[in-house]
Amino acid sequence: MIVCENVAITHLTTLRLPAIANHLVSINDIDDLEQFVEREPYCTRPMMVLGGGSNLVFSDDWQGVVLRMGITGIEKTKEDDDSVWWRIGAGENWHQLVITALRSGLSGIENLALIPGTVGAAPIQNIGAYGVELSDVLSSVTVFDLSKRTCFELTGEACELGYRTSIFKTDCAADWVITHVSLRFKKQWCPKLSYGVLASTVEQGGDMSPSGVFNAVCKIRRSKLPDPESLPNVGSFFKNPIVNEQCLHGLLQSFPDIVYYELDQERAHRSMSESNNHNGLYFKLAAGWLIERCGLKGFREGNVGVFDQQALVLVNYTGTDKEDCQDAITGKRFLAFAEQVIQNVRDKFGVVLEIEPRIY
Ligand code: EPU
Repeated sequence: MIVCENVAITHLTTLRLPAIANHLVSINDIDDLEQFVEREPYCTRPMMVLGGGSNLVFSDDWQGVVLRMGITGIEKTKEDDDSVWWRIGAGENWHQLVITALRSGLSGIENLALIPGTVGAAPIQNIGAYGVELSDVLSSVTVFDLSKRTCFELTGEACELGYRTSIFKTDCAADWVITHVSLRFKKQWCPKLSYGVLASTVEQGGDMSPSGVFNAVCKIRRSKLPDPESLPNVGSFFKNPIVNEQCLHGLLQSFPDIVYYELDQERAHRSMSESNNHNGLYFKLAAGWLIERCGLKGFREGNVGVFDQQALVLVNYTGTDKEDCQDAITGKRFLAFAEQVIQNVRDKFGVVLEIEPRIY
């Protein structure tokens, strides 16, 4: 276990906001976690786990401990006539895993290519893209409980995965560290091509196979989403809001061209599990469209802005171009800009956008 004190963690996040952590602890195996809980003062709160740093925003310096997840390794744990199961260390890179699976002849996660971040972060927000979510392949998650000092296993169902949410975002997970994720790959390939331009992009590529879908997804994502290496961002900054039929009809009266999708009802109800209303149809509104319609696509204030090719993404321009204002943008300033976007959308559509990355 390696511990650093008062260390800059800016470069460990894809948004590159300036932040310093009191303690940074490298976790490379379960032993490191066991040592960590035995040693004061490192196990004093607050504590947070850092994977690829691609879905979080530091609003300020972190007055606590950052556990940098570095548990790696991929092993086949089971196989039957239908499926193959893999157990993967939480610190493995997600996109590399997608490539490794394809090279091993396994399919089912090719639609999730190029999602930044680590495998351990995937269940927390139930990563999803192009019609596939982690919940489609998740078998179980291994968790180390810092307060009980033991590991336990949660089945995929017990993870309560919904739209960009899970049990790991609730208070009961405050002491949990995800150490491994187990995925189930079905041997029979079941392509999911219904989302937007995916089917036509695969066709253009002339390769109707899991690799062909992987290449098409990479092509679409590269054309629409900024590479955090050159323009720091955390992907979608807002969730696509879920509304009921009545709300949608109201909106359609004033905005007949509003972009929306009818939700898979089972998924919708899982995502709405906190509300008691499980009746009726639910629809997902394209938050990018709402933001664009507010005239905010490409809008910039100093070193923070709405990305000009995909309005759902906010970007940090610090150090990236000539217009660069001298001061690095702070987390507080970045979040104030996000609030401005939320306010604009609320004023125009009466819909409240929720921030997608975790705020610390
Ligand atoms: N749209 C606009 N203007 C914009 C952006 C989008 O009008 O600036 C409209 C377009 O009409 C488009 C629709 O919104 O048809 C949906 O856009 P897109 O296909 O780009 O997907 P998204 O809803 O913006 C979601 C995920 C992405 C994921 C894509 C593809 C969320 C919050 N975001 O974005 O995930 O890659 O679908 O499946 O659900 C992420 O979570 O970081 C992420 C990138």
